[in-house]
Amino acid sequence: MSKNKATEPATSNKLGMALLPLRLFLGFTFVYAGLQKFFSSDYFSATSPNGFLKQTQSASTTSPIGFILNHTLEHHTLFAFAIAAGELLAGLGILLGLWTRLAALGAFALSTSFFLTVSWGTSPYYFGPDIVFMAALTPLMIAGDGGYLSLGRQIELGVRREKGVAPDAVLSNAPLESEIARRTLIKTGAVAGGAGIAGLAVGFFGYKSNGSKASAMASPTPSATPSASASASATASASTPAGTKVATVADVAVGTAFQFTNPADGTPAYLMQPAAGKFIACSAICTHEGCIVNFDKKLDIFHCPCHGAEFDGKTGANTRGPARRDLAKLNVAVSGNDIYIV
Ligand code: FES
Repeated sequence: MSKNKATEPATSNKLGMALLPLRLFLGFTFVYAGLQKFFSSDYFSATSPNGFLKQTQSASTTSPIGFILNHTLEHHTLFAFAIAAGELLAGLGILLGLWTRLAALGAFALSTSFFLTVSWGTSPYYFGPDIVFMAALTPLMIAGDGGYLSLGRQIELGVRREKGVAPDAVLSNAPLESEIARRTLIKTGAVAGGAGIAGLAVGFFGYKSNGSKASAMASPTPSATPSASASASATASASTPAGTKVATVADVAVGTAFQFTNPADGTPAYLMQPAAGKFIACSAICTHEGCIVNFDKKLDIFHCPCHGAEFDGKTGANTRGPARRDLAKLNVAVSGNDIYIV
């Protein structure tokens, strides 16, 4: 047939094979991350320290795009949903080889937004995962999937077969070329749409199956940097201090940590009573990348679920990296049975 001529398919195939491990890892990871958010009982909650709202409030204090984040807080459920859906769709596209370049571009945009928020301030920079994702996605943005184990490529080959065109032929017939491109686009769009709808249906099922999402509508409060103070511990005094009552003495047993909301900025914080009558308060925001630390009573530590940093359970002092600074101290005052942040 004179409408096409032979080419060299081997180069593209080799490229596709070389990119396959990267594709599988990135595709799986983004699908997993998206589904994990949809199925999480915390992610959409407005009150959970591990939810999108609290994490974004925390990140906005240090992020260079904090002024934008404060606007997203007004519609936090929508943005939380969009991020989870974006991760899921981008991961499916990369994994299945459907509009791979576009899917990689979407994943790159998401990774960039994470880099500018939760990963911002990570030191040294290579401790942050998002900059690595950005670098790893770049080859897929440039080269796509190379046509190897790619649904998009299979659809194109099917269209070529219908038109009697060899798989790796370069077309010299412009109308035929545009017809193949048009039909490939339509068919790929239909398959991508079907895969996307199926993926989102699973995600939506996860979202609906979590009753805790009902709390997602609480009104957000833009946050500010937690205040660090030299005099952060307190013992009881008779006068009523100027400040906000956050707990009673009975809430904070000796040797435990009581979580409360910092009245200054709405971020989570902890009150500790390391010795009878002595009270200390510190921010619950990890000084590495801003995740919320959890108190482990057994080990008497604050543990960060994101990258494993640890802090002393009595003082908030940093005891294990990658964080290098102590949890920010808050000023405490005790009057009678009431504990105040001042
Ligand atoms: S945010 Fe990385 S260790 Fe806490």
